[in-house]
Order: sequence, then structure tokens, then C-alpha cells
Amino acid sequence: MEVVIVPDATAGGELIAEAIASLVRRKPDALLGVATGSTPLPIYEALAGKVRAGAVDASRARICQLDEYVGLPAGHPESYRSVVLREVVEPLGLDESSFIGPDGSAEDVQAACEAYDRALSEAGGVDLQLLGIGTDGHIGFNEPCSSLASRTRIKTLTRQTRADNARFFDSPDEVPHHVITQGIGTILEARHLVLLATGEGKAEAVAQSVEGPVAALVPASALQLHRHATVVVDEAAASKLKLADYFRATYAAKPAWQGL
Ligand code: F6R
Repeated sequence: MEVVIVPDATAGGELIAEAIASLVRRKPDALLGVATGSTPLPIYEALAGKVRAGAVDASRARICQLDEYVGLPAGHPESYRSVVLREVVEPLGLDESSFIGPDGSAEDVQAACEAYDRALSEAGGVDLQLLGIGTDGHIGFNEPCSSLASRTRIKTLTRQTRADNARFFDSPDEVPHHVITQGIGTILEARHLVLLATGEGKAEAVAQSVEGPVAALVPASALQLHRHATVVVDEAAASKLKLADYFRATYAAKPAWQGL
């Protein structure tokens, strides 16, 4: 696992956007797995800026969703489908046909989850999966004690995650209790995992994930099992890392050609 400490969220967004741009230059129809929430927004802004500036042609890129609320009416502005279309697909100049996600309004949720796992592998697998991290260490919506081998399935959000996400809704009661999320086993199949964490509120979860034992109690610790996982953190989110100086020195000495 590589840990890169950046000065702030904007620098993290720029660094990751450049890694995505470089992937798309190598593989124009790359399948990019995107996360929602606040953290990845600087990535999407930086990437859209590169597309507008002509620094990368993303017109053949494909986008797939990490997770989705269950039970929000189709087209709800906070459904993750709507969020990804608004924050990623449209700014990159893509259309809905380049996008796949699980059906959060399906009557048969389990069948929708299985269909989504199948769709991901039929699409050739995810080339680069962006991740955020919950204050409780979740990735996607794999809450603590999710199986490290889990596949896409329905999960129940913890009280803490519902409270953390209440800011996106008119009232805390509107935050759905249930979600569909790629499982940890599903996430680990992506060729490159890139997790961005910013702010002091993520420092404890980051330290446990990077330097603690691999444990279902801290779902993001599963990144330790992946052969190409990159964790990008700002100074605040890095503040509880014991090996911060080592991570800084390693990245400073890294040959530029290696990229992320
Ligand atoms: C959302 C997702 C979640 C978020 C996490 C952090 O698609 O996968 O794991 O990344 O809850 O959310 P923010 O970035 O809003 O702090």
C-alpha cells in the first residue's frame, strides 16, 4: 500500500485526477469506479478541468457506481445515481450510456445486487476504483464487521453513518436505513484502488486502516490485501499516522515515471 500525504484536499484532487487522466490516455475506455460524498469532489472538478482544457480525452471512459441508497424514488437528487450523473458523468461530457450502477429501486434487491456484480465483470472489471472512508472506517457502505469477502448486497447503515450523511437531506430522518454496496470482495477486484481522505475527522479511521491489523471491524483495512492500493491523505487526515515521516520520504524519493 502506498500512502501519499498532500497539503490539502485540492492537491489530493489534482494528484488523483492526473492518475485517472493518465489511465484514460493509456486505456481510453477505462472503467472508472466512483464514490460519492464530499471527499471526491475535488477529484471530479480537477478531472473535468483537464477534459475542458483538452489535456485528456475522456469521451470513451466508462463510469460505474460504488453504492446506492435503497428506497429513494427514482430521480431523487440524493440518489447516488443522480449524484454521479451530476458530479461526474455530465461534467466529463459523457452521457448516461457510459454509466452503470445498481438499481436501488428494484423490487428484488438481491437480484439487483447479483446483476450488478455480473455487469461489472461483463464490463471487463473496474480499472480504477475511487474510495472515500467513513468515520467508522467503512468503504463503499461496508460498515464495520462486513465480510472481507463480501459481494454486492444490501446493508444497513450505522447510526453514525446516517448522522454523517444527514447534511445531504432536508432532515436526518430522510436518510435511508438501507443501501446497496459493492462488497469488499467486489471492491478488491478492481485493478487499482485509490482512497482519498481529508480532514481531521478521518484521521483515526485512516490510522487504523493503514497501520492497524486487517480486520472486518475496520473495512478499509482490507486495502492492505490489495496489490495496488493508494491512500491519499491531507495533513489533517494523516495526523494520527505513526509512519507519516516515512510515507513522506518515500513519496518524495519516488521516480516520477511510476505515477500513482
Ligand atoms: C459513498 C461512499 C462512502 C463515502 C464515505 C465518506 O459512495 O462510498 O464510503 O466515501 O462515507 O463520505 P464523505 O466523503 O462525504 O466524508
